[in-house]
Order: sequence, then structure tokens, then C-alpha cells
Amino acid sequence: MAESAELILDGKSISLPVIEGTEHEKAFDIGKLRDQTGYVTLDSGYKNTGATKSAITFLDGEEGILRYRGYPIEQLAEKSNFLEVAYLLIYGALPTQAEFDNFKYQITQHTLIHEDIRKILDGFPSSAHPMGILSSLVCSLTAFYPKSIAPEISKEELDLNIVRLMAKISTIAAWSYKNSVGHPLIYPRNDLDYCANFLYMMFSFPTEKYEINPVVVSALNKLLILHADHEQNCSTSTVRLVGSANASLYGSVSAGINALWGPLHGGANQEVIEMLEAIEADGGDTSKWIAKAKDKNDSFRLMGFGHRVYKNFDPRATIIKKAADEVLQALGLKDSPLLKIAQELEQAALTDQYFIERKLYPNVDFYSGIIYKALGIPTEMFTVMFALGRLPGWIAQWKEMRENKEPIGRPRQIYTGELERDYVPMSERA
Ligand code: ACO
Repeated sequence: MAESAELILDGKSISLPVIEGTEHEKAFDIGKLRDQTGYVTLDSGYKNTGATKSAITFLDGEEGILRYRGYPIEQLAEKSNFLEVAYLLIYGALPTQAEFDNFKYQITQHTLIHEDIRKILDGFPSSAHPMGILSSLVCSLTAFYPKSIAPEISKEELDLNIVRLMAKISTIAAWSYKNSVGHPLIYPRNDLDYCANFLYMMFSFPTEKYEINPVVVSALNKLLILHADHEQNCSTSTVRLVGSANASLYGSVSAGINALWGPLHGGANQEVIEMLEAIEADGGDTSKWIAKAKDKNDSFRLMGFGHRVYKNFDPRATIIKKAADEVLQALGLKDSPLLKIAQELEQAALTDQYFIERKLYPNVDFYSGIIYKALGIPTEMFTVMFALGRLPGWIAQWKEMRENKEPIGRPRQIYTGELERDYVPMSERA
């Protein structure tokens, strides 16, 4: 007999079916609760609410497991590349050589953006944050490709929207940076791979030859893979919710970019570097800052430590720590003062009872900030890099939601406002 839970309400028994996922996660199906009882559930922050069934990413925070479509993140980071992982997330299987070549070719062919989008970019002040530019220009793609908002989208049209977005986001991201420093925009090069092309558009000048460093390309591939999906987090849930209204892929992803921009979500790696710089400027005494982090009367937290979901270790942090060591070694930055401070903090926290008892380990953002800094990525671009990496996950989740024909997302509420009262003319108000 199928498992179910009994809810006793006003002496009446209501049966709630139990749903079990492939990894044996269990949920009560409350889909008919309101019809049967008139009650809804209340769960601020959705800490106990499964918003959807999904076959894309599995994570287990207690065990430190992260898998995309069943493949362990450790294997993907070691053996794959970002475009292959993007294909895997979006289409559900590792591509054959022919499928991969076609996907890569299509993306390479769509990296140019409409020249009128460049005019929109020109309208932004150079002080504009690159995330603001990224979300605005990605959103504008709906206006340039209006078929993307049709309620029914053919497979061909959807595939086209997917490659357009994957391709154009790297050009937009690099140009958002060039705009912020007032440098000439660099057009994409079709002979370069995805990551190499992005670095070229970010760092080259029309006046000089640009050498692409394979160590940097490899590190970037790894970082983007590690960020590519993380199931129903704030920005991904935003993408699914917006998309559930049949909004375009571009508009839905643009909303996700705005969610990611929030300091509680995508901004932590930037804060790690700012914290390390503040410690350096203060004389570099890490023990003073460890003490501050432990002081209950001080709001300071050690940025890059702790995670809402991973309570033993963050599997991405283990991979990225190794990558950080390799990159810093290869780039001759092993002796940088910021790295020394980061290592001291890490050691102190890993051996301090306060951090051990609370299971506070370095998270992915602690090391990603250090690598981005070493690669020469400016601090205000860190969240943009996160968005570049997260894009395939957003696309995969949006596509799954549409293919499963999920209904429009529309949560309920518990109203706590005034009871009915009569309108009072302004002249009679106190
Ligand atoms: N430094 C010092 N103390 C900390 C830290 C920290 N970074 N993180 C948590 N604590 C302490 C809290 O003060 C609390 O102590 P108490 O039990 O004595 O009151 C205890 O650890 C539990 O903290 P919570 O805030 O309840 O843990 P939660 O799981 O809600 O928070 C979070 C997780 C938000 C990531 C938190 O650890 C934090 O603020 N870390 C710093 C910011 C950061 O690095 N964010 C990036 C996360 S990774 C990502 O988003 C990709």
C-alpha cells in the first residue's frame, strides 16, 4: 500500500499521500489540502517546501553531495568542460561528439549582439554596476526576439533561444565590464572556445596582441562548472516562477540575475575579497578578526564560511581549493599578501572550537573570490561571473518547468491586516 500521512483536523482524518524521489527524499503531497480542509500551509523562506519535482540536480547538504543529472560534481569538474556541462544540464544527457560539436558551433555563431543593444549599453553611465547592465540587456533580448514570448514555443525556437542566450550573455558580461572602465568594446572571436573568448573580450585591447593563458581558461571552466546549478535556490526559483507565467526565457533569466545580485545570494565572493583587503589594510592580524567573528556583540561574520545547506563540507569548496592552489602557483602569486591572510584565516577557523562546533567550513565563495582575484577579474564582476556559470542551470530549470507544463506559480498567504472599514474623506481624517 502506498505510504501516506494522516492529518487530524476537527476530529476529521485527512490522508496526505507521501511522494518519494529517486534518492529517497520524502514529501507530503498537500496539493488537495485547501480543497479538503480550507487550510493552507505557512512556511516563510520555503525551508520545508518542495516547490517542484526536478530531475536536474541532486544535493545532500549533510553528506556533501552534489550531482548534475546523476554525475558527481567532482567528476564533471575534473573531466568535463563548461559547455559540455551546460548541454548535460539543459538536455539531460552527456552529448555525443556530433551533438557537442553542433551545440558549440551554434553558440559560437550567436555571440554577436544586435548593434541596437550596443546603443542601449551606451545609455548606461560608466558607474553602472555590471549586474544592472547584464540584467537589463538580457531582458532586452525579449524585445529583439519577440517570438520568445509565445505561449507555445517549438523545439527549434526554444533551442535557438537557448544558444542565443548562452552565446550573447558572455559578450554582454564582458561589455558590461568594458563600459564600467571606459575601454573600447571588444567583439567576439569565433576561433576561440567559450571561456577563452570571454577572457579575450574582457581583457584584450584593439591595440595589442592578447595571449590566452591556458591555466586561466582551465580555472574559469572549473569555476563555471561548479556554479552551473544548485537546484531550487533563490534565483533559480525566481526563474521558474517568472517563467511559469509563460514569460520569455530571456525575461525569466533576467529576473534570476536580479535575484542573484542580492548580497544574501550571489554577493558573498565579492565580500570575501573586500574582507581580506580590509584585514590587510588593518595590519593583517587575522586573530583579531577571528575574535570579532566570534564576538556575539559584533555583527561581523567571517565571509566565505558556513553554508545554509552544506553542514559538513561544501563539495565545491574541496574542488576549488585545489584549483586555487594550482592557479596561484601557475600565475606566480603564491606569496600574495591576500592569499597569506586567506590561508591564515582558513587554518585558524578550521582549528577553532567556535567554528568546529557550529560546522563552519570555508564555502565555495571563499575560494572562488580568491581565484577570480588571481585571474584579474575585477571585484564588481564577481557576481557577473556567478551569473555566467549559473545560466545553464537557469535554462535547464526553465525548460523543465515548461516541458512539465507546471501551472503558474501563485502562493497563498495568511492575511494579518485590518478588517473591513469604511473610507474616510480626507477632510475628516485626524
Ligand atoms: N562567521 C562567524 N559566525 C558564523 C558564521 C560566520 N561566517 N556563519 C554562521 N555563524 C554562527 C552564527 O553566529 C550562529 O552562531 P550561534 O549559534 O552562536 O548563534 C551559528 O554560526 C549558526 O549561524 P546561522 O546564521 O544560523 O547559520 P545559517 O545556516 O542560517 O547561515 C550562512 C548560513 C548565511 C551562509 C552563514 O554561515 C553566513 O552568514 N556566512 C557568511 C556569508 C557567506 O559566506 N555566504 C555565502 C554562502 S555560500 C553561497 O551562497 C554560494
